[in-house]
Amino acid sequence: MCGIVGFTGKQPVKDVLIEGLAKLEYRGYDSAGVAIEQSGALEVIRRRGNVSGLAHTLGHFDLEGTCGIAHTRWATHGRPTETNAHPHLSCDGRIAVVHNGIIENFVELREELARRGHDLASDTDTEVIAHLIEEEVKGIEKEGDFDSMSPDDFVRAVSRALSRLVGSYALAVISSAVPGVIVAARKDSPLIIGSAPAGSCVASDIIAILDHTRDVFALEDGQIAKLAESGFEVYAAGDGECVPIEFELVHVDWNMDIAEKGGYSDFLLKEIHEQPRVIRDTLAGRIVNGSIVIDELDLTSEELNLIDRINIIACGTSYHAGLIAKNLIEGYARIPTEVEVASEFRYRNPIITPTTLVVAVSQSGETADTLAAIRDARVKGAKVFGITNVLGSPVARESDGVIYTKANKEISVASTKSFLGQVTSLTLLALLLAQSRGELTTGQVKMLFRELGDTAAKVEEILADTSAIDQAAASCADASSALFIGRGQGAAVAHEGALKLKEISYLHAESYPAGEMKHGPIALINEGFPVIAIATDSPTYDKVVSNLKEAQARGAKIVAIATEGDEQIRSIAEHVIYIPKVRDAFSPILASVPLQLFARAIALLRGCDVDQPRNLAKSVTVE
Ligand code: M6R
Repeated sequence: MCGIVGFTGKQPVKDVLIEGLAKLEYRGYDSAGVAIEQSGALEVIRRRGNVSGLAHTLGHFDLEGTCGIAHTRWATHGRPTETNAHPHLSCDGRIAVVHNGIIENFVELREELARRGHDLASDTDTEVIAHLIEEEVKGIEKEGDFDSMSPDDFVRAVSRALSRLVGSYALAVISSAVPGVIVAARKDSPLIIGSAPAGSCVASDIIAILDHTRDVFALEDGQIAKLAESGFEVYAAGDGECVPIEFELVHVDWNMDIAEKGGYSDFLLKEIHEQPRVIRDTLAGRIVNGSIVIDELDLTSEELNLIDRINIIACGTSYHAGLIAKNLIEGYARIPTEVEVASEFRYRNPIITPTTLVVAVSQSGETADTLAAIRDARVKGAKVFGITNVLGSPVARESDGVIYTKANKEISVASTKSFLGQVTSLTLLALLLAQSRGELTTGQVKMLFRELGDTAAKVEEILADTSAIDQAAASCADASSALFIGRGQGAAVAHEGALKLKEISYLHAESYPAGEMKHGPIALINEGFPVIAIATDSPTYDKVVSNLKEAQARGAKIVAIATEGDEQIRSIAEHVIYIPKVRDAFSPILASVPLQLFARAIALLRGCDVDQPRNLAKSVTVE
């Protein structure tokens, strides 16, 4: 959560910071701010709301400074107010800090600082950092020598202050006493440093600085960097001291188009339409001579065959991908598989042994609970396999093996293309395990792989005509609640459909396995109550139809996702959204797409921002 960007160079930095922040808004957008060195002082401008609001405010200021830091916030400690917005300042306003992460011991640090006469203005954990640095600069005992501070003194002061912190941070600090210098540091939160012809830059995500540089260094935990117009240096920080270290720049050749909408009205729609490409890319090169290849798993077939239990851990949409995978792994490979939200798993003392494979699924690769669960599982001796969308992300780095989902950057907060990438990758894993253990023959694997690949074209068919989806959405948009039901793979899809709807349209939605309706949720149904059913061709199709008849008898407005050619469903459902025929095991790949579009259409009809739903952030880096 929270995005940081900083730049020091030869030219005025205001627009560079605002453009960088705009690209980081997926990390949070409840307030934003900048601190820019200007005529020997720090000019700090913050405001509640998103980056465009801040940009508007900055338009009224004449800011020519060439060194500055900026922040877009997702509130953790303290409400999303202007006072709590970053950057935060020291008492005398000569130090400004932007921070992503959580300082766990901030309450005691705050009390300590207050006892020593510091006046803290905000409710945030971050503000203590600015004050601790100030103390280190001045010396706690003696009245200090701010004016004689050198850039190296500044780095040391930051390092010493950081040694007092418990928790996680990526931060950037500037001081009016050391013009043109940014000090950046990280622990458990991402931070990228870049060397540009026009100066040096730092950001939470490379996308924020790609316009200025393609030569970057990903700061490691415990490292501090000193950025100046002429370049940057990196230090290993320990016990408050700093030792310069060698580092290598990595040249990045990403295309900036990935961060643009590509002609669609919103990122969500663009990303939904990218899904056929994601399926194809995820599968490319994954079968050789009839054998599934996932070299990244880095397990021999003997080790694969020793696996006697799988635990899938994830959050949100990634968790729903895990539910789908459980059916595939148990169905094809016959390995007992549990799926659990990471925030429960990490505190539950689960049974994990060296023959357990833990599969951690995370689009961002930096979800705090998923990371904590990975660490716990590894301590218990399990092999951990990560499925993520972000190259070099913490999940990728901390897992024994990793599959990248090939979705490319997902900007919209609601996961869509990364979800299909996850489901496709997990299907590959199920096929690999099944083949390795002799549960599927080479011929069966070839056939299943081909059918899996065919889903890409079938998703294209769904995307080509959305009229039935739009009509169903129009008839449900005014509802105050909706129920999503399905059985088997359809139940997992129902959970994802309900999450998508509530997340972007704020329309309350529940999801249940259809067989559970009679055990409570059917009481919700009255005249016109929307019931969205996954009623695709499956072994439990007849059971789902019976459940729908029960809902119909009570006046429900039924929207059915059904398989092309199913005429029977028309007599039950007011709206039928057909998808192409597909094997039940792979049906989530198709059935989830109309539900993404359904949620988006309702959200737009209700006037919601589909890319930046309220209260959410793309990366949940705090628990
Ligand atoms: O980056 P992750 O996959 O670990 O994120 C997990 C959830 O926060 C995420 O899937 C969230 O539920 C999405 N906003 C859903 O669209």
